[in-house]
Amino acid sequence: MSSNAEASSRAEVAANNGATAQGPTDGPRPAIEARGLSSGYGPQAVIREINLTVRPGEVVALLGPNGAGKTTTLLTLAGELPPLAGEVLMDGAVTKAPLHLRARKGLTFVTEEKSVFMGMSTRDNLRVAGIDVDTALELFPELAKRIDVRGGLLSGGEQQMLTLARALSRKPRVLLADELSMGLAPLIVRRLLDAVRRAADTQGTAVLLVEQHVRKALVYADRAYVMRRGRLVMEGSARDLASRIDEIESSYMSGAEGSVEGVDFLTN
Ligand SMILES: Nc1ncnc2c1ncn2[C@@H]1O[C@H](COP(=O)(O)OP(=O)(O)O)[C@@H](O)[C@H]1O
Ligand SMILES: [Mg+2]
Repeated sequence: MSSNAEASSRAEVAANNGATAQGPTDGPRPAIEARGLSSGYGPQAVIREINLTVRPGEVVALLGPNGAGKTTTLLTLAGELPPLAGEVLMDGAVTKAPLHLRARKGLTFVTEEKSVFMGMSTRDNLRVAGIDVDTALELFPELAKRIDVRGGLLSGGEQQMLTLARALSRKPRVLLADELSMGLAPLIVRRLLDAVRRAADTQGTAVLLVEQHVRKALVYADRAYVMRRGRLVMEGSARDLASRIDEIESSYMSGAEGSVEGVDFLTN
């Protein structure tokens, strides 16, 4: 057997093991996956034993009250925080690579912080990211009339459309999106979630979406996980979880540092 053939049969074994571990009901191999993942900001784990998968073309919501560990999970999947235990896999292979190398493999991470350069025009914000302006405007035509306006003068919704236009114009294979719609008007939230859904449907992007608007998230997502105090406490299809909204609500009540806030989000 040539070393190439050996390598590919090893890869097959690895893939088959992955498939077995996932059970028989699955579709394609997950684009991104956490197995027994624990991590934190020092020796103490903030998230524990997280098992989750996102397959190509899936939108998966990660829900849970403030402080549950959603951002920590995304940071670890992105390669910004090292696992304390367990592992992150991309396309079935364990990765320990930092974010910039995961990015080369098609992972894009939209963080909670706005990443718009405030002193630069919309056009230059796209240019410095190496994004074709026309591609970005196809995603969000409403940015056309704001193309020469400085980032700092855009509305919050426009800034977030610009951020997402930049992320999606790269046609990522994996998109990790942290609270895209925080504080934005319902119409804008719909535009952002529509664009994410379309990327999954038309380009096969695997999307993991942290979202405070629980009901809305369950409209756009295929599946969801609910986190509480660093652990996954519920998972299922979006339809299943939409019918168990009371249970999600009570997990917010008992899990949140700011539980009142968590419940507010459920009514949005
Ligand atoms: N940079 C940090 N250093 C230490 N602890 C942190 C840091 N960021 C978050 N935490 C803690 O980790 C826990 C989970 O936070 P986070 O992942 O941001 O939750 P979520 O995104 O669900 O609101 C919280 O208790 C929070 O205080
Ligand atoms: Mg967060």
